[in-house]
Amino acid sequence: MTFDRSIKIAPSILSADFADFGREIQAIEAQGADWVHVDVMDGHFVPNLTFGPAAVKAFRPHVKTFMDVHLMIAPVDPYIEAYAEAGADMIVAHVEAGPHIHRTLQAIKATGCKAGVSLNPGTPLASIEHVLDLCDMVLIMTVNPGFGGQKFIRSGVEKTRTLRAMIGDRPIHIQIDGGVTPETAPLVVAAGADVLVAGSAVFKGGSVVNPAPYGDNIRAIRAAAEAALT
Ligand code: DX5
Ligand code: ZN
Repeated sequence: MTFDRSIKIAPSILSADFADFGREIQAIEAQGADWVHVDVMDGHFVPNLTFGPAAVKAFRPHVKTFMDVHLMIAPVDPYIEAYAEAGADMIVAHVEAGPHIHRTLQAIKATGCKAGVSLNPGTPLASIEHVLDLCDMVLIMTVNPGFGGQKFIRSGVEKTRTLRAMIGDRPIHIQIDGGVTPETAPLVVAAGADVLVAGSAVFKGGSVVNPAPYGDNIRAIRAAAEAALT
């Protein structure tokens, strides 16, 4: 994947039909998804449980675009290799997911995957200042992690603007995750974000037998986001 800052929409399959992931992934890609975002939760770092490496491995053959695996688990280090072997293109870990975020990012890089670091709404940008050069992406959470369908936390907009300035001309994506809609997307894109995760705002109104709303929803987010760039 060559680096570019064009807007990328990454639907979170946390909002998909849990009995039909293969067809849901095919549907969102056919409807215009740029990436597929996989939310891994452990019931400990966050109060919800989702996918182990075996599930991610089962998703892999259905993903033709790019699969970013958002690990909301602690400790994270013992599981990095398993998620890489499951077929992640990018692995994202939270600053608080272990004692040494620098070591965690090195471990992700060592698998050959792209590496990302995630900041909760309460996590300061200063915590990643010295690891930015190990990152292919920084994820700014605009909800507290754990559940889809929560309200966008606006302090993420200023945080994105400051991060964008910190990054300068380095090839590092800024991803926003939580409460992204056609209303909130322009705010973060104007501040410098290029990858937009959206769960409920993509999957609402559609299904594998009626996937057209997925396309309408993705186009609505993209159009609002791109309008903020002009
Ligand atoms: C939250 C997850 C998100 C979530 C986003 O912990 O990391 O990816 O699915 O859901 P929406 O877009 O519904 O806020
Ligand atoms: Zn996520």
